[in-house]
Amino acid sequence: MPPLSGTYFENRNPADNSDLIGRFPDSGPEDVAVAVRSARRGFEAWRAVPAPARGDLLRGLGDLLARKKEELAAGMTREMGKVLSETRGDVQEGIDTAYYAAGEGRRLFGRTVPSELRSKWAMSYRRPIGIAGLVTPFNFPMAIPTWKMFPALLCGNSVVLKPSEDVPHSAHRLVELALEAGFPPEVIQLVHGRGELAGRALVEHPDVPLISFTGSTATGSTIAEAGGRMHKRVSLEMGGKNAMIVMDDADLDLALEGVLWGAFGTTGQRCTATSRLILHRKIHDRFVANLVSAAGALKLGDGRKRGTEVGPLIHQAARDKVERYVALGLEEGAELVQGGSRPRGARLNGGWFYQPTVFTRVKAGSRLEQEEIFGPVLAVIRVGSLDEAIQTNNGVRYGLSSSIYTRNVNSAFRALQELDNGITYVNAPTIGAEAHLPFGGVKQTGNGHREGGWEVFEFYSETKVGYADFSGTLQRAQIDNYEI
Ligand code: UN1
Repeated sequence: MPPLSGTYFENRNPADNSDLIGRFPDSGPEDVAVAVRSARRGFEAWRAVPAPARGDLLRGLGDLLARKKEELAAGMTREMGKVLSETRGDVQEGIDTAYYAAGEGRRLFGRTVPSELRSKWAMSYRRPIGIAGLVTPFNFPMAIPTWKMFPALLCGNSVVLKPSEDVPHSAHRLVELALEAGFPPEVIQLVHGRGELAGRALVEHPDVPLISFTGSTATGSTIAEAGGRMHKRVSLEMGGKNAMIVMDDADLDLALEGVLWGAFGTTGQRCTATSRLILHRKIHDRFVANLVSAAGALKLGDGRKRGTEVGPLIHQAARDKVERYVALGLEEGAELVQGGSRPRGARLNGGWFYQPTVFTRVKAGSRLEQEEIFGPVLAVIRVGSLDEAIQTNNGVRYGLSSSIYTRNVNSAFRALQELDNGITYVNAPTIGAEAHLPFGGVKQTGNGHREGGWEVFEFYSETKVGYADFSGTLQRAQIDNYEI
């Protein structure tokens, strides 16, 4: 539908700015209101569809995503820049989420528990809530919308999706495929546009009781405020400053591969990206030397070209931010040992490329060490013990993921227990969450909810309790059983 505002925004390839992908509606509050009205009608019909049947539709959509995986991945790389193997993985995460949700359609367990009175049953069961407003970022154009949308739908809600204005085409394809799979049109609404306009209108719409958001902590705070005022159920996935710890007993080759993938995969634009590397002093110099040459050898380019390892940043503002943090790192006295500039040569001039960058001598507590950059910048901190490593990991305001490389089983379990994060990896980098496990972080990364896994179905449904008394008499709980 054309936007009621009548205006459109441009969507360009971040690897090549002359490549215009399309113009998309710059929708505003009036468009959101129309979408919500339709979603309301959709909800009334959808809530009555049995959950296993809702699951069957999701399974069909998963099959369709699997058939279209190559086409979708190519479009996603063109739209957001990360390399093809990663966009394929992104689609796969959507497929996994569809199949997992489909199976859950035959579960959605409630509980039946004994009543304290005779001839009386007590049980809990799940009910749909209403319209779910979903606000999603650019870095996982398929995985993150599906993480939210599929469980929301499975639980019987209708959805209004407001995807990032950087990846409207991928969201458009996802919704097109959902319709092709047979979802009733009113159940899934798509509203393009900017966060401050369309996103805000969705969050503040009185008929949208559920909000799920992935993005910056600053935006998450304003959403939580609105949600608090309006008594909405709000799930937030926000910033990260994730660390990998490499102990002196680690397999250093494995750790090197891990940090390259964790720090520079998706050009560092993941909430789970490894943006801090905490090295034990005994292996520090050797590890840094290997890291510098390996990071310097990573091949930048168009993610659709074979051999490319690192794509561009999403837009100019993202690269400007990276450049500001590199200048800040130097001001703070950190040592730039790799990268620190745009790539040389004309080949990559048309896109928002930036070299994989490594700083050493980064002080715990400095801004470079504390703040989320969302780019290919790795801060190396040197420590003398596991205690110090744990303390450094925990000394930031975020708490999404963490990682430890060690061959010592006691160190590994201490890390699992003491690292203050929602996810800890042992001998693997900070990225790589799987769709069937709960995903989320502590402290200022989240607000206690989880995406993925079994927990997300709790978020998208309301628990109701039923008591059925078939004794034929008035039985008073807490009283009649205890009368002498
Ligand atoms: C994100 O970083 O924004 O764990 C989501 C991973 C992915 C999801 C990350 N499966 O890296």
